[in-house]
Amino acid sequence: MAGEALLELEDLRLDHEKAGVLLDGVSLTVRRGQVLGVVGESGSGKSLTGLSVLGLQPKGRLSGTMTFAGEDLTRFGSRDWRRFRGRRAAMIFQDPMTAFLPVRRIGAQIIEQIRLHKSVSRQEARKQVVSLLTRMGVPAPEQAADRFPHELSGGLRQRAMIAMALSCDPELLIADEPTTALDVTVQAQILTLIREIGAREASVMLITHDMGVVAQSCTDVAVLYAGVVVETGPVTEVLQTPLHPYTQALLRAIPPMDGPRPERLPVIEGVPPSPETRPAGCVFAPRCPQVTSKCAVRPSMRGEGLHRVACVLIA
Ligand SMILES: Nc1ncnc2c1ncn2[C@@H]1O[C@H](COP(=O)(O)OP(=O)(O)OP(=O)(O)O)[C@@H](O)[C@H]1O
Ligand code: SF4
Ligand SMILES: [Mg+2]
Repeated sequence: MAGEALLELEDLRLDHEKAGVLLDGVSLTVRRGQVLGVVGESGSGKSLTGLSVLGLQPKGRLSGTMTFAGEDLTRFGSRDWRRFRGRRAAMIFQDPMTAFLPVRRIGAQIIEQIRLHKSVSRQEARKQVVSLLTRMGVPAPEQAADRFPHELSGGLRQRAMIAMALSCDPELLIADEPTTALDVTVQAQILTLIREIGAREASVMLITHDMGVVAQSCTDVAVLYAGVVVETGPVTEVLQTPLHPYTQALLRAIPPMDGPRPERLPVIEGVPPSPETRPAGCVFAPRCPQVTSKCAVRPSMRGEGLHRVACVLIA
């Protein structure tokens, strides 16, 4: 049912064997019918959050709560992950060439993916491929299915990769910077498609470093800073009334949507902490213009309704 929680992460932590604490309190919810933007600067833990949801995080101690449609993902064994990945949740990346083998036709690769999870004939799978490519806005889908990945434009390849990710009707699509490598016009088209997927096909976790993308495409947002979700809520509320000083700083620096998109988030003075320099209290304290002695204790998530923030300034 639309609006029902699909994925819930509560205080997810990942302590890597060698690199130390990489996720340090990721709390977010993806509801059915939502596109949740996970936004943060490079190294904040966006991809690791997505990978953890599929059990693909690097080795280390993972703690906290991670539930999917009521199932506890932290108790999954390798067999459970195999039946979960691709089937109930799928992930796409910036570069479609990583998803496709260069030497096989697009359609054949998607057919293979479908038949890995569903017992359908090759003919039926081919029909599903054409229907999927059509839904993903690929013109002349029959012909496109017979092309090799390099024969499609970047935008069409991205649409084909999304089609492959959706081929087994997952409930959640995790899209990790899916438009960063595309030019501005194609980016806008793919973002429109992702918004439609959120409304029609699957809930989406859209990982991005671009607040403009969040504003344009997401219904909800989780702002990640140094492995911690510092603010989350409906996009309209968070963007109109950002409560965390980090979110406020990010929003002051959004470039106009019709201009060139930044490769990284705009620079805020200072750098995020490394695992060695992580403050015991609020992780943003070394860069926060409003820091006080109260910030020496890690603030828990607080706030009213769905708009929640980890900052002592909020009652
Ligand atoms: N396999 C790994 N082993 C050790 N450290 C890792 C590994 N993967 C990621 N990290 C570290 O974890 C932190 C978060 O990485 P992550 O890839 O999630 O960042 P990100 O927010 O996706 O950044 P970007 O915007 O650059 O993609 C970084 O400091 C990174 O160096
Ligand atoms: S808890 Fe303190 S340091 Fe952290 S964001 Fe709020 S005011 Fe700034
Ligand atoms: Mg990443």
